[in-house]
Amino acid sequence: MSRRQANPMRRFVDSGSFSLAGALHSKPRSSPILPIGLVLVGAILLIGYVYSGSGKFRGEAVSRIGGDYSCSVEVQRVIPFLKKAYGDSMHKVLHVGPDTCSVVNKLLKEEETEAWGVEPYDIEDAEATCKSLVHKGIVRVADIKFPLPYRPKSFSLVIVSDALDYLSPRYLNKTLPELTRVASDGLVVFTGYPGNQRAKVAELSKFGRPAKMRGSSWWVRFFLQNSLEENEGAIKKFEQAASKGSYHPACQVFHLKPYQ
Ligand SMILES: *[C@@H]1O[C@H](CO)[C@@H](O)[C@H](O)[C@H]1NC(C)=O
Repeated sequence: MSRRQANPMRRFVDSGSFSLAGALHSKPRSSPILPIGLVLVGAILLIGYVYSGSGKFRGEAVSRIGGDYSCSVEVQRVIPFLKKAYGDSMHKVLHVGPDTCSVVNKLLKEEETEAWGVEPYDIEDAEATCKSLVHKGIVRVADIKFPLPYRPKSFSLVIVSDALDYLSPRYLNKTLPELTRVASDGLVVFTGYPGNQRAKVAELSKFGRPAKMRGSSWWVRFFLQNSLEENEGAIKKFEQAASKGSYHPACQVFHLKPYQ
């Protein structure tokens, strides 16, 4: 059956190549159209090759951006150092940022740590464990451009990762004080380094705008404008623990004091 279908196909290809060969041999000199045609075919093949080549190159660049890192993953990695830096202040943690379910799950495995999460983006394709955290009210899906649904100082420590990179200064002016408002002992901010690109093009609709990575001097100035002080004690302890653990940060980490 399949062989019968294949045979006419092959005959068609054979006869096609046969007639092309016939054309090449039958009128070698009389027709100037043939060499021009061959040159055209060659040019088209060459252009096609160049285009497919550059397309492949572009594809690689995109996937390298797509194979990005995430500061929410970084948060999970540095939990032991955060514990060294914050000690008892880790007893009631709020994490805010993409992939918060993973961070909350990891925090909940720590002894004497309660954890909650705010997921700033939709989690339609979330796993069952994440859906269950949302169902229990441990993780909330909330737009962090608006006030957080918590009372002042509801948490001992608030950790935010990635999310701030997607906000313009206008919104940061509201969101950062909001995050600080719900923290009694401190706020830890994880942001990307400038030059580290994030978010696949396909994800831009989810995040609303591309991430903007700001340098540390930009952030420090921004904190000062918003009357937020860096927590020197926590910075020192965190850095000591991190260097003992041979940790090389892939994200910028800022430790801020709570409001008085
Ligand atoms: C953010 O707030 C600071 C301090 O209140 C102000 O100087 C700055 O202009 C504000 N930026 C924007 C974009 O609203």
